[in-house]
Amino acid sequence: PSHSPHRADPAPLSSSASSCRALSTRRQLYEKPFPVYKQPVEVGSFSLDSERRFFNDARQIRYFVEPPSRPDFNLRDGYKDRFVKRDDSIKEKLDHILRWILANKSKLESRVAAASSSPALGVDVVTWRGHLTKLLTTPYETREGWLLAATLFRGTLYLSEVETEASRRDTENRTERHQEMMYWGYKFEQYLCAEDMKASPDPGGVVNTNEAFCTVVQTKLADHKLLFSGEVDCRDRGPKSPAAPACYIELKTSAEICTPKQRSNFHRFKLLKWWAQSFLPGVPRIVAGFRDPDGLVVGTETIQISQISHLIKNEYNCWKPTVCMNFCCEFLSFVRTVVREDSPRVVHLFSWDPHQDVTYTVHRDSSYCFLPPWYVEGMAS
Ligand code: A3P
Ligand code: MG
Ligand code: MG
Repeated sequence: PSHSPHRADPAPLSSSASSCRALSTRRQLYEKPFPVYKQPVEVGSFSLDSERRFFNDARQIRYFVEPPSRPDFNLRDGYKDRFVKRDDSIKEKLDHILRWILANKSKLESRVAAASSSPALGVDVVTWRGHLTKLLTTPYETREGWLLAATLFRGTLYLSEVETEASRRDTENRTERHQEMMYWGYKFEQYLCAEDMKASPDPGGVVNTNEAFCTVVQTKLADHKLLFSGEVDCRDRGPKSPAAPACYIELKTSAEICTPKQRSNFHRFKLLKWWAQSFLPGVPRIVAGFRDPDGLVVGTETIQISQISHLIKNEYNCWKPTVCMNFCCEFLSFVRTVVREDSPRVVHLFSWDPHQDVTYTVHRDSSYCFLPPWYVEGMAS
């Protein structure tokens, strides 16, 4: 019988400080100078349409429209009669990024220096921005663990998330209230985004979470050349807007802040996630909507990513950007030392649970394999 990805064959190796079998996530170990993180450069983009079909272009990009100073946004409007929800039981793994890479293969390869020792693609790591966000926040995460599958192919490391048993249970047991609140974030986007340069937002339209515009960026974290993709909510449409990714705007919603305790929690927990997500692709600002318990937006605020480290300075024992970046960097180095065999048939499954070390198991020709035959063959030709 094909084994479930949730019951890994060999039990994860126990941590041992003397071997390189495990990686510690203790914050103090990563309180070092900020590693070199090159300004991310957009190398392309792609779109997923209302039926989740891939297009090698920017057709799904949306344009930011400044909200009124007293917005009248009801995030419950349209739930569920004007809501098409993406089927998240379909695991897309890295497929959309791989499709983009194949469609842009010659462009990418022409960027690679003639040096034949370097990876064929000219990058060390290919993954989703969201997977890197999880790595950045790991030293501060106390609730949710993760599983990351790693495969080395033609000198490039591919990282693809595997759903944990706990996450699958959480998804299954979501309350009706929680499911509605997940819609609120997308509804907020609809109030602030227009389909083209001159249009206005259409709050009467359908919210369809299949649709996405994704940027593909290249950058370097210390000596790791990264290529990753992330969904972008909208872009600035002003005549003086800078080039991508600096023109992109991340939209977020959060509960209205009424007490000092709520403000402190917002700084300690929410801003960590918001910072990590946008810092990685070089998105410079967030437009946040604060909502009351009935889903009415009580105000909006622009937050510059570069200001977040100052906003949190007064919090006692708060998260530090340098810890996030150093941990991510050392995780990638750890994976590099562990994964030696270059083969799409081999997966090293890296596993982490809060208050534990990162450990791994090895799987050959298993259901964890995630580089599809069309990609492996497409890269060979
Ligand atoms: P909010 O972040 O405003 O709550 P993103 O902000 O990354 O563009 O995502 C858009 C919306 O998708 C989120 O809006 C939230 O409603 C929903 N969403 C994103 N990630 C989620 C997750 N891990 N679990 C549940 N909902 C999520
Ligand atoms: Mg988004
Ligand atoms: Mg958003």
